[in-house]
Amino acid sequence: MREVPDLISRLPDQYFTALLGRVAAAALAGGEPLVDLGRGNPEVGPPEHVVRALTECAGRDDVHGYAPFSGLPALKEAIAIRYGEVYGVHLDPSREVAVLPGTKTGLMEFAMCAVESGGTIVLPDPGYPDYFSAVALAGAKDVPFDGFDVAADAMYLNFPSNPTAATAPDGLFAEAVQWAERSEAWVLHDFAYGDLVFDGRRPQSFLAVEGARRVGIELFSMSKTYGMAGWRLGFALGNAELVRRIELLQDHVFAGIFRPVQEAGIAALTGPQDSVAERRTTYERRRNRALASLERIEAQSEGTFFVWFRLPDEITVESLLVEHRVALAPGEGFGARGAGWARLSLAVSDEILDRGLERLRAAFA
Ligand SMILES: Cc1ncc(COP(=O)(O)O)c(C=O)c1O
Repeated sequence: MREVPDLISRLPDQYFTALLGRVAAAALAGGEPLVDLGRGNPEVGPPEHVVRALTECAGRDDVHGYAPFSGLPALKEAIAIRYGEVYGVHLDPSREVAVLPGTKTGLMEFAMCAVESGGTIVLPDPGYPDYFSAVALAGAKDVPFDGFDVAADAMYLNFPSNPTAATAPDGLFAEAVQWAERSEAWVLHDFAYGDLVFDGRRPQSFLAVEGARRVGIELFSMSKTYGMAGWRLGFALGNAELVRRIELLQDHVFAGIFRPVQEAGIAALTGPQDSVAERRTTYERRRNRALASLERIEAQSEGTFFVWFRLPDEITVESLLVEHRVALAPGEGFGARGAGWARLSLAVSDEILDRGLERLRAAFA
């Protein structure tokens, strides 16, 4: 029998695939229609002018061949200008920006480009489960974040956090930079929910901190800010050496991104930005509703489109799914420290959210 290469066998179980499977099985089991608050898929797509840019570009004859492998220079410029305007970060688009087919890919590439196999990577706990996949692909070991007194080769940070919906504590980015300089290690900041912050907070880029681009990169995703999750477009920004390595790796494993997707990305980044503010306001309004409804529960959300809350004693995500027909993401799926907690998604219609909150109230009564 042909052996499975170690690279494949060491990949962890895909947490989200398993979660979707359990929810689908519960839905098939019959009973009241399920209310699914377990997923993190933006429920509203990009604004009209972005879709128009895609279709207009796709109607041209000259866009169907290979696009430049490292991305359109105008797209790199567009994200660099947005970084200047929104986050006060000035980037050199030719050296400090790599175009990615979604930032999930960048999460994997960073580990492979920054860490030798056998190295150690610090991960948030609880944190986004795909970070474990990155560690496995790089043949590295992971340790949960427990402060900056740690010997490691790289660290993943993620604020606002999926799943805890917390924004970056004051001074944490600066500490991360100092740690990386001291340890000669690299930092990746996953900024997937960067623009979705509540209560008048301003989005905080890791790269706005002094020295950050000497030690790491930030991943900016078009998925949540512009509702373009299915389009697969994102960026790695900051350290020029890491950007170079990521582009080199992509030269070997990808052949660029369909030009109409890139042109639409330019339209999204440079066009009217009211949809970004609207999204933020919508999620903040739903967050307020969820927190009011879970009033006696320990719950938090400073950003993202999630609420993170402690499950009352005797209640599990499984019992909520089976007995109350409401799906949540179980905290332990995000790491050992997530046990006893759950993540609720606000990326659903008001009606579905209200129905789910009603069921949770009944379950917790
Ligand atoms: C924390 C976090 N990082 C990264 C991603 C990946 O985003 P993208 O669509 O850019 O690959 C997600 C998607 O859900 C996420 O929640």
